[in-house]
Amino acid sequence: MALTSAGITSSAASATSRMPSGRQTVCFESMNQLDRRPDLSTKSPVRTECDSRWATRSARLTSTTLPGVTCDPTAILERVVEDRDRPAQRPFGAPDGSRSSGSGAFDRGRSRAYTRRMTRVIAVANQKGGVAKTTTVHALGAALAEQGQRVLVVDLDPQACLTFSFGVDPDALERSLHDVMLGRAKAAEVLVKVGDVHLLPATIDLAGAEVHLLSRTGREFQLKRALGPLVGSYDVVLIDCPPSLGILTINGLTAAGEVLVPLQCETLSNRGVGQLLETIEDVRAYTNPDLRVLGVVATLFDRRTRLAQEVVDSVPERYGLRVLEPPVPKSVKVAEAPAQGRSILEHAPSSKPAQAYRQLARSLLEAR
Ligand SMILES: Nc1ncnc2c1ncn2[C@@H]1O[C@H](COP(=O)(O)OP(=O)(O)O)[C@@H](O)[C@H]1O
Ligand SMILES: [Mg+2]
Repeated sequence: MALTSAGITSSAASATSRMPSGRQTVCFESMNQLDRRPDLSTKSPVRTECDSRWATRSARLTSTTLPGVTCDPTAILERVVEDRDRPAQRPFGAPDGSRSSGSGAFDRGRSRAYTRRMTRVIAVANQKGGVAKTTTVHALGAALAEQGQRVLVVDLDPQACLTFSFGVDPDALERSLHDVMLGRAKAAEVLVKVGDVHLLPATIDLAGAEVHLLSRTGREFQLKRALGPLVGSYDVVLIDCPPSLGILTINGLTAAGEVLVPLQCETLSNRGVGQLLETIEDVRAYTNPDLRVLGVVATLFDRRTRLAQEVVDSVPERYGLRVLEPPVPKSVKVAEAPAQGRSILEHAPSSKPAQAYRQLARSLLEAR
């Protein structure tokens, strides 16, 4: 189902037409609105107001309805409320079955018995392009959601590859993270819900945000500030950084508590990792003293070459970083997935890369 709101114009139909039937993309204006619509069985004034909003939106959508796409606002509402009230699942690394928790929309109505745990904000960064940052954010997001985590992914790259790989056409978006970064919209107003994962989408406009931010005081904190009201509603927030060490990546590192570094195991001279670590040191010194490097994810790993293993083996000594297990094997299935608007976990659920990302998600949850 493709449901549009403030974020997606009617031409979103072109984006959703690529989606497998039964797939849902829901865009909603504000997480807070979800809180104001909890009771679907009574006719409160709030519900009436929301019903009429959704009805208007639904009417707009009928003209863009696609085969296999439903635009029933009540069903969407029920689904969102269902999501919110989903019983907590036992997460990995939580022997008592406690679930990480925040203070946002998903949490109301949960039993007080659940232990509150901080949201983890993880930036996936490496200024080298093509090392599988975007692939890793998408696949890990899907794997974490599969494992019962409430996941938000943030597309901080003006190339909007993450947005596209979720099956959302960046050209069809009226508003995106760009507007959020410039303070023209709240993060909750541009959220897109794709399956179980929430996405803060990017458009090419985000490239302009770099220039705008340069003249602003506190420019490094723009993303952190924007995510502030939202993060408590999630267990994990994954930020897909652009392939540079510019102000957008600094914003990603400033907003994050942890960094994950995808590393393509094809050359021993990964000079870029050293530069990234220097940038992380700067971020620690000026904007985010608690930033922690979780480690390296070995990507596009080809077991047939000795070099790949040598690169992995050299990482701890060379950079003082640990390599999370397992490496993600190179596979054409991974390269096929973005064009389908799916993660590798949906595209080829039992493939080796899908299994590797599931295992990595478990390692991540254990590595606190
Ligand atoms: N494990 C893999 N096997 C094969 N291709 C991969 C794998 N991981 C990523 N790719 C492909 O490599 C290219 C670059 O990946 P991407 O995630 O966009 O990198 P980045 O975000 O670092 O620029 C994409 O075409 C992607 O589909
Ligand atoms: Mg990318």
